[in-house]
Amino acid sequence: MLFLHRADPATHPELIDDPAQPYEAMVEAHRMIQFVNRRLGGRQALVRTLEEFARDWRPGETRTFLDVGTGSADLPVTVADWARERGHRVRIVALDLAWACCRFAREETRAYPEIGVVRGDVYRLPAREGAFDYVLTGMFLHHLSDEGIVRTLRVFDRIARRGVIVGDLLRRVRAYLWAKFFCALSKSRLAAHDGPVSVLRSFTPEEMRAYCEAAGVREPTITVHFGHRFICAWQPGTDTTTETTTETKTETTTETTTETTAETTAETTTRKTTEEATAERRT
Ligand SMILES: C[S@@+](CC[C@H](N)C(=O)[O-])C[C@H]1O[C@@H](n2cnc3c(N)ncnc32)[C@H](O)[C@@H]1O
Repeated sequence: MLFLHRADPATHPELIDDPAQPYEAMVEAHRMIQFVNRRLGGRQALVRTLEEFARDWRPGETRTFLDVGTGSADLPVTVADWARERGHRVRIVALDLAWACCRFAREETRAYPEIGVVRGDVYRLPAREGAFDYVLTGMFLHHLSDEGIVRTLRVFDRIARRGVIVGDLLRRVRAYLWAKFFCALSKSRLAAHDGPVSVLRSFTPEEMRAYCEAAGVREPTITVHFGHRFICAWQPGTDTTTETTTETKTETTTETTTETTAETTAETTTRKTTEEATAERRT
């Protein structure tokens, strides 16, 4: 019965969402998430989707991204590394509600002038329609209520011009047992608690499709990936839901407030391109 329905975040809270947690505990928890992203499928799933989206990119163009619920900015770093390797130019706003995450994300992105970290709430995003080329989020949606998810997907669909990439965990028994065992090995008390709870709060592909339908999202593609993950991606403005299963075997700004206009911050904090930064370092 536990796995038939998604656990309500109100009755199954995650410690990582508690603003009273000490900074060091948050850092430990996000280091664990980085490990999971890097070694257990998260990064690979994102890069595969980026490769798809980048097929029509023209050389010399700069693409803008918003990553919501960024944590340690691990996904922005993944995008930036991938873009550098491919010779693409990107500017990324990494947004999180928690001050501790923003502080840690700024530390983690010191060598990435193309990433700007902004503190803000997904429910108060001031970004205008089509403000970013791409909106991205990973292991964030399960932090929201059902109603909050639909509202958030609608906002993503509105502010993304070219694509939306939503990644999260699959709710299944194997994933739960795996998370319980694996996260218990971590020295992070938060991760040991939140890992299995995250799985209980996560989704099946069918549920994800239903949220998309409720939000008016057209033609989402849901792919299942190694590490009990899925990615739901779509191009805004493009009616039927498709689902494919490709289970793969590989597998500072100063403190800104929610009043900050995300796209303005994108302009000001990530104006420097990689080349400009490299030139600066040379001089
Ligand atoms: C599991 S972490 C995401 C980790 C990150 N995306 C990654 O893959 O490394 C979820 C994040 O969502 C943030 N968050 C929770 N509620 C939020 C909200 N309403 N607006 C923005 N961020 C929020 C939390 O502070 C936390 O950092």
